[in-house]
Amino acid sequence: MISTANIGMSYGGQKLFEDVNIKFTPGNCYGLIGANGAGKSTFLKILSGEIEAQTGEVIITPGERLSTLKQDHYAHEEEQVLTTVLMGNEDLYKLMIEKDAIYAKPDFSDADGIKVSELEEKFTEMGGWEAEPEAANILAGLGLGTEFLEKKMKELNGAEKVKVLLAQAIFGSPDILLLDEPTNHLDIASIQWLENFIDNYKNTVIVVSHDRHFLNKVCTHIADIDYRKINTYVGNYDFWRKSSELAMHLRGNENKKMEEKAKELKAFIQRFSANASKSSQATSRQKQLDKLQLHDLPVSTRKYPYVLFTQSREAGKEVLKVDGITKTIDGVKLLDNLSFSINKEDKIALLGNDLAKTTLFQILMGEMEPDSGTYTWESQSLKTISLPTTLPTSIAASTIFSIGFVSTQRISTILS
Ligand SMILES: Nc1ncnc2c1ncn2[C@@H]1O[C@H](COP(=O)(O)OP(=O)(O)OP(=O)(O)O)[C@@H](O)[C@H]1O
Ligand SMILES: [Mg+2]
Repeated sequence: MISTANIGMSYGGQKLFEDVNIKFTPGNCYGLIGANGAGKSTFLKILSGEIEAQTGEVIITPGERLSTLKQDHYAHEEEQVLTTVLMGNEDLYKLMIEKDAIYAKPDFSDADGIKVSELEEKFTEMGGWEAEPEAANILAGLGLGTEFLEKKMKELNGAEKVKVLLAQAIFGSPDILLLDEPTNHLDIASIQWLENFIDNYKNTVIVVSHDRHFLNKVCTHIADIDYRKINTYVGNYDFWRKSSELAMHLRGNENKKMEEKAKELKAFIQRFSANASKSSQATSRQKQLDKLQLHDLPVSTRKYPYVLFTQSREAGKEVLKVDGITKTIDGVKLLDNLSFSINKEDKIALLGNDLAKTTLFQILMGEMEPDSGTYTWESQSLKTISLPTTLPTSIAASTIFSIGFVSTQRISTILS
C-alpha cells in the first residue's frame, strides 16, 4: 500500500498542491488528472521517490515493490530488448547478474558452489524461471514478437522503445505501478492490451493520461489536482466529470438563491429599521442576514480546450454518398467497388492500409479521379482543414468528418 501524509510542493513560489493525504488501495486504478502544469508528473515523481516533496512524506508498506514508466527513451540503447524488460524487476535482475558472474568464473570454488545454490533458491522463490516467458508475453501483447527479444534498443524506432519501457514497468507485477501518459505513441491494439492488463491487475495502479477513453476504461478512482489540492473520487473519468460539474452547478444555484434572499432581507432592514413597530422584525432579519454564508467557489486551474466550427448552414441528413469507387495505383487495386454513406452526426474512424485511406481522402477532396464510381457531398459548404504537415494526410482529411472536439492524439491512435 502507498499513502501520503501532508505532502506539499511548490516550484519557484508557485504552489502545486499542499496537505495531500491519500491512501491508494490495492486493486484500484487511480486516474491522476488536472490541467497542464497542475503537477501530475511532479506528484508521480514524489510518489516514486525520484524527487522529494517540500513537506510531508510518502509511506510504502515495507517489502513492496514500486515501478514506474521511464521517460528517458534512450536509457538502454546498448541493451537487448529482453534484458531491458527484465531490468524492470531490479532485485531479480541483480540476482541474475550475480548468479551468472559466479557461473562464469574460471576458478569456480566450493564456496562459489554454495553461494550459487543459495542464489538459485532465491531465484526460484522470486519466480525467476517464469521471468523470461513473462517478459516475452508482455512484449507480444504490445505487438513486439520474439524477433525483437535479442535486438538492441538502439535498433528500435520511437514507438517500439516506448513499448519496451512500458513492458519494463509492468514486468514482474509490481505492488505499485506508476504510469505517466502510457498511451502516448501506442497503437490502438496495444492500448487495448494495456486496458485489459490494468483491468485485471490485482495491485495498485496510478496513471496520468489525457486520453479520457482510456481513463474511462481503466480507472476505478479519479485523483484530481485542482485548487492546489488533490481530491479522490470513486468512479471513472466521465462519472467524475459529470458529478463534479453537477456539484459546482448546485453550489452556484444555491449561491444565487442566497444572494436573492440577502437582497430581500437588506431591503426590509433598510426600509423598517427606523420604524419602531417593526424594529424587532428588522433586528431578527439582520440576524438571518448575518447567518447567510455564500459557498466558496474557487477558480479552477482547468481550461477545457475546444475547437469551434461555425456552420454557414445546417448540414442535411446524408452528408456523403459514395457509390462503387474503384482505384488502382501502380498496378495495386487500393479501392474495389467501395460504397457507403455518411449521415449527419456519424463519428467515423477509418482503419486499414495507409495508402488506401489517403487515396480515398484524396478522391473525396477532389484531388484525384477514381477509375470508376461516384461520390456526392450533400453540402457545397464543406471545408477541409489543414493540420500541421507532421500529421499524416489521412488525419488532416479526417477532420472533415469530425464534429465537435476530438483529440488528435486519439485520432492518430485510431488511424495508425
Ligand atoms: N524541476 C522543475 N523546476 C522548476 N519548475 C518545475 C520543475 N518541474 C516541474 N516544474 C513546474 O511545475 C509545474 C508542474 O509540472 P508538471 O510537469 O508536474 O505538470 P503536469 O501536470 O504533469 O503537466 P502536463 O499535463 O503538461 O504533463 C509546471 O508549471 C512546471 O513548469
Ligand atoms: Mg506531465
